[in-house]
Amino acid sequence: MKILFVTSEVHPLIKTGGLADVSGALPAALQTLGEDVRLLVPGYTQVLDKLENKRTVAAFSVFPGQPEVKLLSAKMPDTEVPVYVLDAPQYFCRVAGPYQYELGGDWPDNAMRFGMLSKVAAMLGSAASPLAWRADILHCNDWQSGLAPAYLHLGGGVHAKSVMTIHNMAFQGNFDRDWLGPLDLPQSCFDMHGVEFHGYLSFLKAGLHYADRIVTVSPTYAQEIQTTEMGYGMQGLLTVRNGDVSGILNGIDDKEWDPATDRYLTAHFDSSDLAPKAAGKRALQQRLGLEEQARAPLLGVVSRLTYQKGLDMLLECLPKLLDGGAQLALLGSGEDDLERRFGQLALRYPGRVSVTVKFDEGLSHQIMAGADIFLMPSRFEPCGLNQMYGMRYGTPPVVRRTGGLADSVDDASLPDGTGFVFDEPTPAALYRTVAAAIDCYRDLPKFQRIQLNGMRRDVGWRVSAQRYIDLYRKIE
Ligand code: ADP
Ligand code: GLC
Repeated sequence: MKILFVTSEVHPLIKTGGLADVSGALPAALQTLGEDVRLLVPGYTQVLDKLENKRTVAAFSVFPGQPEVKLLSAKMPDTEVPVYVLDAPQYFCRVAGPYQYELGGDWPDNAMRFGMLSKVAAMLGSAASPLAWRADILHCNDWQSGLAPAYLHLGGGVHAKSVMTIHNMAFQGNFDRDWLGPLDLPQSCFDMHGVEFHGYLSFLKAGLHYADRIVTVSPTYAQEIQTTEMGYGMQGLLTVRNGDVSGILNGIDDKEWDPATDRYLTAHFDSSDLAPKAAGKRALQQRLGLEEQARAPLLGVVSRLTYQKGLDMLLECLPKLLDGGAQLALLGSGEDDLERRFGQLALRYPGRVSVTVKFDEGLSHQIMAGADIFLMPSRFEPCGLNQMYGMRYGTPPVVRRTGGLADSVDDASLPDGTGFVFDEPTPAALYRTVAAAIDCYRDLPKFQRIQLNGMRRDVGWRVSAQRYIDLYRKIE
């Protein structure tokens, strides 16, 4: 089967969150299982800089009146998965992030940028392909490739089948209908049974309407998005298409995230010997200017700082936890208000709270390894990867029972418990659960059992990648 995996970010080329991790690891797992899978990514400056041995394999026009674009071919670093790069410098070679400029606003031409990505994906799955290689399956991810199934359908003829994976319903790619013309979409598809969503052209809605199958990144989230509270207005469509919707839990890249070999750690460890984890904690405390107390419970957070992640609830209950002897190492960036409030907390608790506001891959691994307990009190979480990294690194997570957190973490009260789970999205419930996790940490044999349960759990991609293959085969 020839599979084109279309994505707007991929580790280690460009990353804002978990989508990049999935895009790095799932295609590699599919390849290991014998599939001919290739990536299609936008040619951001960071991507062009990091990929070696690029060859131009096609030059062609995508939309009327637009300059020609090029398609470059290369191999992903480490995994050797083939990658096609959409080289359109006018759209993708910009300073700052893939979706936003430096001050945090969306690029005003995002509709054109990702409409183009979607259109090129559809071309690679149809007779219009500029390559000899033609995909049987387009695997689209989030709104940025949501128009691809629409283009496949509207183009007619024999074409690839499509799978739309929703990584986060909160991001929909809704744009003014004036974009229909520039994106070469007929007015007739601007309909409830098409790309229209509350008067806007919606990339995600288009994907959900036209794709052959819809997947979300955990079974629980697949149910949640069919409810009014969590469907973001698309629950009706999802309920109608219920038979085509499934949840496949993300895995993690267990080579990249392996405490026994992690390139960012100096003290390596595994489930047969946890002792070096203490050295990792000391190194982290040193690096972050935290008091070097071996038995002070060190709480770790690595996260986008947004409403989704529930960290405002943590701000409310942290003083009590810190006054009780805990420390906090937080790495994250996002909403101004949260950045500011965590910054203030760090000033108030020197030596006990460290707040790093930036994106730092190495530090994220070091926090995962050096912290004692990882915090992820998300209000909603389609899957979440950090809780699985925490489990793998002997850093049991505190999570709210939602989405993929509910599907991947078992509460410490269960025989195979791997973390600490709470239900109510309130500071009080979060406080109680972190306090219980800290009590458990002070009871070494009990805590070690939870650590080892997590470290021994298979959270790799093999099983879930096979589920995707089974799904592709059903529709091929
Ligand atoms: P989401 O995709 O919603 O942000 P996930 O848990 O699925 O949440 O994935 C987040 C990914 O982004 C993880 O690999 C995490 O380590 C990483 N990450 C988030 N914020 C930062 C940061 N400030 N620096 C480094 N890595 C980060
Ligand atoms: C999204 C979700 C996160 C998920 C990730 C990868 O960013 O917020 O829960 O783990 O995508 O699927």
